[in-house]
Amino acid sequence: MKALILAGGAGTRLRPITHTSAKQLVPVANKPILFYGIEAMVAAGIVEIGVIVGDTRDEVMAALGDGSTWGATITFIPQDAPLGLAHCVLIAADFLGDDDFVMYLGDNLLEQDLAAFVKAFESERDSVDPPSAQILLKRVPDPHRFGIAELDDAGNVVRLVEKPADPPTDLALVGVYLFDSSILDAVRAIAPSPRGELEITDAIQWLVDQGKRVRQEELTGWWIDTGKLTPLLEANRLLLEKIETRVDGTVDDASVLDGRVVVEAGATVTNSTLRGPLVIGAGTVIEDSFVGPFSAVGNDCVVRQSEIEHSVIMDGSTIRDIPRLEDSLIGKDVVVSRTQVRPRALRLMVGDHCQIDVE
Ligand code: DAU
Repeated sequence: MKALILAGGAGTRLRPITHTSAKQLVPVANKPILFYGIEAMVAAGIVEIGVIVGDTRDEVMAALGDGSTWGATITFIPQDAPLGLAHCVLIAADFLGDDDFVMYLGDNLLEQDLAAFVKAFESERDSVDPPSAQILLKRVPDPHRFGIAELDDAGNVVRLVEKPADPPTDLALVGVYLFDSSILDAVRAIAPSPRGELEITDAIQWLVDQGKRVRQEELTGWWIDTGKLTPLLEANRLLLEKIETRVDGTVDDASVLDGRVVVEAGATVTNSTLRGPLVIGAGTVIEDSFVGPFSAVGNDCVVRQSEIEHSVIMDGSTIRDIPRLEDSLIGKDVVVSRTQVRPRALRLMVGDHCQIDVE
């Protein structure tokens, strides 16, 4: 079993962050989203991993390296333009060979681990009616934003549609799929959709139309497609819920730590209140501030005389004299500061290397 992780694409919905960075590398709970996918593969025993990379390939390749950090071997597969999820399978044909594989969308996060999902597929591959594909489904309130599956009364997959205007069900396709090599015939057979992409939903529909069995399973844990700000902050919140207190940095006597808090090595907290769950990255300085629940402050940041809650602050950023910053995503090496007193909450999504002076 191999893995194909998709980390190309345009990422327009997380602009301005994705003008300069790969959306799959935005951190949640201080770890890039993509790393959770790699870890999930390795935990399921899959170590031969192909990664599709696009315009942000340099950054993604630098972050993942050769995969040895995880005990995996990573093969990068460049995609010249984001021509669709099925196009990713097409260009990965040499890497995939005849092997079964898990396809994982690099901006998806799942609570459940993948081992049981992989095992279910593998055990049925030896049955009399082996599945050619396996999909994971989750009921969603906004099905027009996803690929949607329709099942018959016996639970067989009969139809799949990509982002329908009038969704037939609320069963969304989660971005984790299992395939045997017949998906290669499917991606070669289908034509681009009206939005100009080779859709994986159409390729799976092609398998169904050929009489192949597509196994489905409904996901029980949470699942988040992190492509937009609100789900990204939600993912950050859900992952911070799971952290355990660990203080490797320095906290002075005038500071108060409340709830589950991680302070990484080299971080210093002075005259401040940290109310978890939250993480403070390595080398970060927190001074005369309040950092509230569901905040992830990256490495080498400075937070001075400010109040932060429910926000992701990426590496190297400074938040200074801000009475309240909430529900925000702040890129790398950003400075948010204020010159006059105006006690108002700020909600920001700021790209890398910006300077914001609030007057
Ligand atoms: O998140 C689940 C949904 O993902 C499914 O319900 C849909 O059926 C499926 O089409 C997909 O929809 P999205 O619109 O969310 O896909 P997106 O364009 O965001 O791409 C998903 C990931 O794949 C993302 O990490 C970028 C990467 N990608 C995307 C395209 C189109 C590539 O690497 N190459 C591509 O050509």
